[in-house]
Amino acid sequence: MLTLQGLEKRFGALAALSGIDLEVPAGEILGIIGPNGSGKTTLLNAVTGVYPPSAGRIAFGGADITGWKGHRIARLGLARTFQNIRLFPTMTVFQNVWAAQHARTPGGLLGLLRSRPRPGGGDTRRVEAALEQVGLLASREVLARHLPLPARRRLEIARALVVDARLVLLDEPAGGMTPAETADMARVIREVVAPGRTCVVIEHKMALITGVCTRLCVLDFGRKIAEGHPDEVLDRAEVREVYLGGVDASDA
Ligand SMILES: Nc1ncnc2c1ncn2[C@@H]1O[C@H](COP(=O)(O)OP(=O)(O)OP(=O)(O)O)[C@@H](O)[C@H]1O
Ligand SMILES: [Mg+2]
Repeated sequence: MLTLQGLEKRFGALAALSGIDLEVPAGEILGIIGPNGSGKTTLLNAVTGVYPPSAGRIAFGGADITGWKGHRIARLGLARTFQNIRLFPTMTVFQNVWAAQHARTPGGLLGLLRSRPRPGGGDTRRVEAALEQVGLLASREVLARHLPLPARRRLEIARALVVDARLVLLDEPAGGMTPAETADMARVIREVVAPGRTCVVIEHKMALITGVCTRLCVLDFGRKIAEGHPDEVLDRAEVREVYLGGVDASDA
């Protein structure tokens, strides 16, 4: 589904990513962990076309997408959520998902402005189905900025669900959450996002990683230092060393 070959991203003198080789087969839930600043978000940004890689290749679903712009990659069936949640705060829950659906249609933003949700229309039903799946249908008329954090993160996920993405990239979906909220997010990823899709999940919270991921990749200073089954990877000496003092009990 996703292949990275020798992926490199430099910001001036800083090598945020170097020599990353990674295969994500269809149906996998790959976890990516690593200390702050190790390049996790940069990897997602490179894959989603926020900026072109400095070197290396990126292939998605068989297409070489290296250097492609984000909207073009998105149209191939790739969706993401953001570490710093990006929603339309003054729009309702329904409108946020509606806008995600129409941002991808040929009319783009203009089409969105002209389009009107019709009760019972196919587009409306798709938005309602996505909201139902993340447990937000009852909050459809609430403004996004009035939602508590866990609900805002579920709303971002609904935006990814409504566009029929084959690959969904989640950047710290349980960031800032309590253990109970994290467990709920793990369930949403396992039961709602993952079926029929391939997922890449960046997270610091080990409860989420070990609860949902089928494979784990560890980054440190922009390099991949370990990869394999989550339990086995977390047991390795070099991984424990990277995290020594980095993961406290409240993170676990
Ligand atoms: N647009 C940018 N311009 C310059 N430097 C950047 C940019 N984006 C990221 N960096 C740098 O690249 C490195 C990797 O950052 P990145 O955000 O990918 O880390 P991360 O693993 O996601 O960290 P965190 O766990 O804190 O989210 C950091 O040193 C960061 O300061
Ligand atoms: Mg990050």
